Amino acid sequence: MGHKMFTYDAQLSDVVFEYCRERLSMDPVPLDWGSLRAIPTNALDGLIRPEGCDPDQVLELFKDVLAPSVVSIDSPGFLAFIPNAPTKSSLLFDMVVACSGLNGTSWLEASGVVVAENQALEYLARRAGMPEGSGGAFVSGGSMGNLSSLTVGRDLGRAKHPELAGHEVRFAISADSHSSIGTALHVLGIQPLLVSTDDHRFTRASLEAALANDANPSSVVGVVATAGTTNAGIIDDLEGLGSYAREHDLWFHVDGAYGGAAIFSQSEAGKFSGLRHADSFIVDPHKWLFAPLDSCALIYRNPTAARKILAQQASYLDILHSNDDAHYEWNPSDFAIHLSRRARGLPFWFSLVTYGTEAYESAVQAAVDIAKRAEVIIAGLDHVELVRPASLSVVLYRRIGWSDAQYTEWSHRLLRDQVAFVTPTKWEGETVARLAFLHPDTTDDLVREILESMRD
Ligand SMILES: Cc1ncc(COP(=O)(O)O)c(C=O)c1O
Repeated sequence: MGHKMFTYDAQLSDVVFEYCRERLSMDPVPLDWGSLRAIPTNALDGLIRPEGCDPDQVLELFKDVLAPSVVSIDSPGFLAFIPNAPTKSSLLFDMVVACSGLNGTSWLEASGVVVAENQALEYLARRAGMPEGSGGAFVSGGSMGNLSSLTVGRDLGRAKHPELAGHEVRFAISADSHSSIGTALHVLGIQPLLVSTDDHRFTRASLEAALANDANPSSVVGVVATAGTTNAGIIDDLEGLGSYAREHDLWFHVDGAYGGAAIFSQSEAGKFSGLRHADSFIVDPHKWLFAPLDSCALIYRNPTAARKILAQQASYLDILHSNDDAHYEWNPSDFAIHLSRRARGLPFWFSLVTYGTEAYESAVQAAVDIAKRAEVIIAGLDHVELVRPASLSVVLYRRIGWSDAQYTEWSHRLLRDQVAFVTPTKWEGETVARLAFLHPDTTDDLVREILESMRD
């Protein structure tokens, strides 16, 4: 008999698997309350103790006290921020990843993980129109994907511009770039060229105008486009920005953390053709590709260049690395700012291969379609009006005459009443309402109920 923590415990397993079965079979999952349902201050008192606690009781506590204080991001009523609706198959396979303790760090340790993750990455790269040979790794999220790719772009840019001090190289970004781009530049110790745009869309013309007015345009070594802005779902001019970057030998990064998934949408895919120019592209399976957190696909056009910059070097890791590029064995750890990693691409891979690509196409399309229908419903009501046309799966609209406080009160009321989770945003300084669709089972009736709840 081994150590008790490493001995199979049938009771513990039954309790946990039964909970998982129950949760998986809920249709739909309850929305739940997040912080609107207070957790008693002493709820967790005394739980950490020398002899441990009865797992049945701890799970009951989790079920009754903790879980309801988490808004279910996979509810069809979660329309705030960017939702995340994992498929049943991806959730189940996440359990396989967890129960197998699957490591996805290196080829030596985990070639069985790496080939499957790479199959999923290659499929995404092909669908995005990136050339054969593109590749990378699944990282924890869009923020880490952006930071890793901009690190590569910065270092390649520095190498091309020995006349500049390291902190002088810049990336052209727009005010609608995701906040994680600003954070990445901050971490990297470099500045943006912040480009003014018309109607929040970063275009080639706006880039050229900004460069023409800039005192030091040659310090711009890369361009960051967003394929689906978080606030409004706007797709930047990927073709124009990408071709400009190609012509001027600039690093072209496309942040498709949210909207990149629309390469699966029949009506939207054509807007992403400029992705073929990308040096790096990210899309989060944990957003609109229906995989559990945490999973971002980070794909480079030239993975060799990326790993030469990002692979960690240490004597105890030498066995993972060969100096012979022709016989490189793929280590996901080499392509981002990370080393140890769980096999976070596998739940997406399993779901994609089990349901098939058509299921993904129809589920992504469903969110685009309901956004368009929501637009029509809003246009037919007199107390609300569209702020701008729906873009991808985001709809911005205003409740005529409302103050900031009324939006906040309404958002909390909707959640308290378990109708939906909808949060306001700001658009050009004004507080407005925002619906971010993602779950394919969100209904028009729910949209109507949300809009009707704004009459008072
Ligand atoms: C366009 C975009 N980029 C990056 C991110 C950051 O992704 P993550 O939250 O996975 O770090 C988001 C998150 O919503 C996003 O919408």
